[in-house]
Amino acid sequence: MDFYDVINNRRAVRRYKEGVIDDAVLKRIMEATRRAPSWANRQCWRFILVKDRETMMKLGQMRSYRPDISCYEKAGAIAVACADPSASGEMNGKQYYMLDTGIAMEHLILAATAEGLGTCWIGAIDEQPIKQLLHIPDQYRVIAFTPIGYADEQPPLRNRLPLDEIFHINRW
Ligand SMILES: Cc1cc2nc3c(=O)[nH]c(=O)nc-3n(C[C@H](O)[C@H](O)[C@H](O)COP(=O)(O)O)c2cc1C
Repeated sequence: MDFYDVINNRRAVRRYKEGVIDDAVLKRIMEATRRAPSWANRQCWRFILVKDRETMMKLGQMRSYRPDISCYEKAGAIAVACADPSASGEMNGKQYYMLDTGIAMEHLILAATAEGLGTCWIGAIDEQPIKQLLHIPDQYRVIAFTPIGYADEQPPLRNRLPLDEIFHINRW
């Protein structure tokens, strides 16, 4: 898929069809995630790819936003993005582990889109129960997760601010 088609086709997909994702497809998505840039190339992120149905169902319940939607467990997998803050950088009060992990997660999401798969960033999560469920070491934060699966809906293109409100040319 052309890069700009990937960008324009991506949507937050919240309904999935049952369907197994080929391991070769998942491998390509993982490789694309691995290629993400990071602070001093420190790669503070770690991902857990959850394929076990029961664990996926439990994860689906550990969201605090739109818990009414309970079909994430139908997706082929859930990718959980974690980061060790001490493995990234900090400058002028800005901690870069969130940014590093956000970039890597978006690589994953765009690669999944290129493979014809749907995803949805889920950031409104209950971190502690997820850490317990997935045996995540103490020093890691859980940043977000996303289902990866075959979409069972075609969400409309959501609004964005106009370009001239987002971009200033030469000065603010
Ligand atoms: C950092 C981040 C966290 C998000 N967390 C949630 C979430 O917890 N639950 C949810 O349903 N959607 C979540 N979303 C999806 C956004 O609501 C969605 O991307 C936005 O409404 C724009 O829609 P679009 O992705 O289809 O363009 C999140 C998106 C981002 C980037």
